[in-house]
Amino acid sequence: MKKRSFVVIGIVVGIIALILGILYIIKIINYHKTYEYKFLKLDYTKEDVKKLDTLSTETKDYILTLEKNKDIISLIDEKYFIEKHFKEYLDYYKESDYDLTDVVAIVNVGANKEFYTDTKKSDISKGELILTNKFYTLDNTYNSDQMINVSNQYSYGENQMVTEQTYNAFLNMFNKAKEEGLTLIINSSFRSFEEQEEIYNDYKSSRGEEYADSIAARPGHSEHQTGMAIDIQTYGSRADTFEEFDEFKWLQENAYKYGFILRYPKDKEYLTGYDYESWHYRYVGVDAATYIHENNITFDEYYAYFVEKD
Ligand code: DAL
Ligand code: ZN
Repeated sequence: MKKRSFVVIGIVVGIIALILGILYIIKIINYHKTYEYKFLKLDYTKEDVKKLDTLSTETKDYILTLEKNKDIISLIDEKYFIEKHFKEYLDYYKESDYDLTDVVAIVNVGANKEFYTDTKKSDISKGELILTNKFYTLDNTYNSDQMINVSNQYSYGENQMVTEQTYNAFLNMFNKAKEEGLTLIINSSFRSFEEQEEIYNDYKSSRGEEYADSIAARPGHSEHQTGMAIDIQTYGSRADTFEEFDEFKWLQENAYKYGFILRYPKDKEYLTGYDYESWHYRYVGVDAATYIHENNITFDEYYAYFVEKD
């Protein structure tokens, strides 16, 4: 081969090597711009990066402003993690003594804020999943147009009303309980805004606001106004003794099968804002009631994660 050919080959190889070198440098520069690189540099593991990568760019950018924090990964792993609350979770975790699971539940339902602050209108298009609590309020004129009278064979007092769905579900539940020798009696059901106002104000004037707030909803915030809440008693029971009766035990095991849940459970006061009420049942439909029963969560948590999330 001639010497000139060697020179040409040398030049071509040189150019190829240069191009490959430049491409390699561009690749490295680009890799340095990726979240993977930035998170690994912060000392997150490859496993962590996979989880972080499921988040939006906005959340990822925010995480990059923070030091490495193992809690962030645990947070993403939380069963009811909702990304839009990310910053709020971290802030509340820092300022409270709750563990991450509780923090997620509290922030999801809004209870990291004081009750009755930052209130919103209840979404009345949700049917049996309408939520009203200390953050969601019904208009004073709201009452379901499909309310029907409860026969007094099932209730204490006249003029009890519930929605048709609630009534049908209650009758099925009543009949099944009856077969087992138990009697479920409706003690309170639909209450208008004005009736609730009277009840709340009575407690407030006799025992003060803090007490009133622990056991009664302020007007517009009561599930009784939806016509889907019933207070259940049985022969000889009272609010403070209902728990000791077989009817209560039966409801604990069976109410969900008919679409009812115990709405204000023991030890969930920090989420519901109310003291435990063994008698207050809420119709939410069989699917929601089954999930709530099996996963031991409140309706507030269920609503935040499954109904309101998107
Ligand atoms: N007792 C429940 C919280 C109500 O007043 O609706
Ligand atoms: Zn009640």
